[in-house]
Amino acid sequence: MDLDISGKVALVTGAGGGIGRSIATYLNHENTFVYLIDIDKKGLDDALSNLPNQDQAKVMTLDITDYSAVQETIDDIALNHAVPEILINAAGVAGLTTPIYELDEEDFNRIVKINLNGTYNMIRHASLHMVKKGRGKIVNIASIAGVTGSNLFQSHYAASKGGVISLTRSVAKELGPKGINVNAIAPGVIETKMIANMESDKKKEYFSKIPIQRIGKPNDVGKVALFLSSDLSTYMTGQILNVDGGIVMA
Ligand SMILES: NC(=O)c1ccc[n+]([C@@H]2O[C@H](COP(=O)([O-])OP(=O)(O)OC[C@H]3O[C@@H](n4cnc5c(N)ncnc54)[C@H](O)[C@@H]3O)[C@@H](O)[C@H]2O)c1
Repeated sequence: MDLDISGKVALVTGAGGGIGRSIATYLNHENTFVYLIDIDKKGLDDALSNLPNQDQAKVMTLDITDYSAVQETIDDIALNHAVPEILINAAGVAGLTTPIYELDEEDFNRIVKINLNGTYNMIRHASLHMVKKGRGKIVNIASIAGVTGSNLFQSHYAASKGGVISLTRSVAKELGPKGINVNAIAPGVIETKMIANMESDKKKEYFSKIPIQRIGKPNDVGKVALFLSSDLSTYMTGQILNVDGGIVMA
């Protein structure tokens, strides 16, 4: 089956982490040229060294909260290589577990700046080139916390991901007529370094409620992102796909 992504250029943020790396690997396996973007250089180098087609990939150390640096990077890729036709926004941070009445303004702003403003920065600059080209696929990694609200005293995280969901739907309406699909994935708990510090009793309690009876793996999300980046999902836009083992129903 032709996924219609071979030879295209993709930008994947958070590619030094668990979910972004999985998505980059699936895309690269289908001969997409992948720009692996992250602030974690070591994570990026490690991700690159495990790709199936390393000559079809490049690492870029970039802070997605830096509006001008994001613009410069994307414009440079569009001008000197090719217009990125796939954008995956997987960079994100979880933040501390804190009740709202003890949550610092600084921490709240930091989480929103990375998860929401960072996603905006990437879409803002990539979509300009996609619109000129008349085609593109944007996949945002949100969270079920953005759908249901946080169960873990992470209101800042949930608010930022709720923002990503709303941004996804709004931008999907704007860009649909321009040939660009914009969708999001809302993962449940996925085994990456993001949940490494989650207390084990919290993990156990959560695990017991998952209908599919296991914590998710990065590839569970990676496969769905591949689907949303490909020709298989051409008639879908503005959708939020829960990849959560069914926990959202609990
Ligand atoms: N793991 C989970 O349980 C889970 C659940 C729901 C949603 N998510 C979301 O999935 C996405 C990927 O998370 P993950 O689980 O792979 O975690 P991860 O920590 O393994 O990866 C996140 C990556 O984002 C990068 N990053 C952070 N700030 C950045 C910035 N300013 N600029 C560029 N890169 C930056 C980090 O360096 C890291 O490599 C995140 O958006 C996260 O919120 C994760």
